[in-house]
Amino acid sequence: PGRDLPEITCQETSDALSLAAQHLNDLDVVVFPTETVYGLGALALNAEASAKIFATKGRPADNPLIVHVSSFAMLQSLLPKDYKICPAYQALMKHFWPGALTLLFPRDSNVIPSIITAGQSSVAVRMPSHPVARALIAKTNGPLAAPSANTSGKPSPTKAAHVLRDLDGKVPLILDGGACDVGLESTVVDGLHEDGNIRVLRPGGITVEDIERVLELELSEDKEDGKSVLPKVLVHKRDYRDEAMEQAPTTPGMKYRHYSPSVPVTLLHTSTQPPVGQHALSASTFISTLPSTIGAKSRVGVLAPADSKFWECIELEDGVEWHKYTLGTIAEPAVAAQRLFDGLLTLEHEGVDLIIIEEILEEREGLAVMNRVRKAAGESRWINYETCE
Ligand code: TXA
Ligand code: MG
Repeated sequence: PGRDLPEITCQETSDALSLAAQHLNDLDVVVFPTETVYGLGALALNAEASAKIFATKGRPADNPLIVHVSSFAMLQSLLPKDYKICPAYQALMKHFWPGALTLLFPRDSNVIPSIITAGQSSVAVRMPSHPVARALIAKTNGPLAAPSANTSGKPSPTKAAHVLRDLDGKVPLILDGGACDVGLESTVVDGLHEDGNIRVLRPGGITVEDIERVLELELSEDKEDGKSVLPKVLVHKRDYRDEAMEQAPTTPGMKYRHYSPSVPVTLLHTSTQPPVGQHALSASTFISTLPSTIGAKSRVGVLAPADSKFWECIELEDGVEWHKYTLGTIAEPAVAAQRLFDGLLTLEHEGVDLIIIEEILEEREGLAVMNRVRKAAGESRWINYETCE
């Protein structure tokens, strides 16, 4: 419900899954829905199949892939025999699996091909909750490596139509499971360090606040024995000065330019202070100069919360053609997460000349949203709403 699911029968669903599993077992790639974004899957334990993922996406070989499992038994089969899962991971898996959380585990080099981990000594594993993803993994009877199903550098697809526009002719089959509920990639967490702390390498669908709440809930009893302490949750932006973070602050993937449509994107700061030497323009000044800076009658896409003042400010400016896409209300960062990539891809498809995104608060899902927005944006501008009220 609410996901724009295609109308097909159980038999057709079953046939589609069988066909997809057949392609996978023939060492080909297949696109499938997950609750976060669409994935480009191949057999994770087969180096030849996994190599096709890199070729199809144009993905750099030093960016490792996430391995997707459909059961705990499947997870166990990937891990080194003597490895014991730590209490923090157990708590996180209990609350967030299946779901938008990826955990790093030690890599068993006899099981996981090196192409998957790009030479890292760890392997990233996730158990998705989307029924089509679970069914496909189970039917294939093996873990699937799957990055987001987009050409490297582009926004991740959250609808089958996005994938078709980007990868048509490059993949044999796309399973359409409707629009993704979460809309942003999973949170990537590293709990493998000696200090026992939990490092958030990539913010995503599971919020830092939820991770902290669950660790507190599940592990605080242990505090009483005096020796074990609650692990800290280290996040790149927030704990930048934390020495422990300086080693490996983000995933290998995060160093690449990412999430950019083929259209220039401007990030509009409305609540943070401009850097020294720059000053904030009034919203109306910024808006009124657009026709001359990008050209009269240009098409300008706007991504902003439904209750943003920006919408009122553009009412009077008809020197450009506005294309509006709302991101839920200011109080709903989860809606912004769900709609961000669809918004970027929809406006790109509408042929706009510029996309303007208004910043949202970096709380809860807002942290992951702003992480993606910063990477999508080629430039930042600072405005205030003083003259629009
Ligand atoms: O929600 C998701 O995670 C989606 C769906 C399809 O599951 N997948 C996804 O995969 O976003 P991808 O390849 O676009 O992003 C994987 C991220 C990259 O930033 C990569 O560097 C990081 O995970 N990663 C994978 N293995 C890693 C490892 N061993 N150590 C550190 N980071 C790793
Ligand atoms: Mg990706």
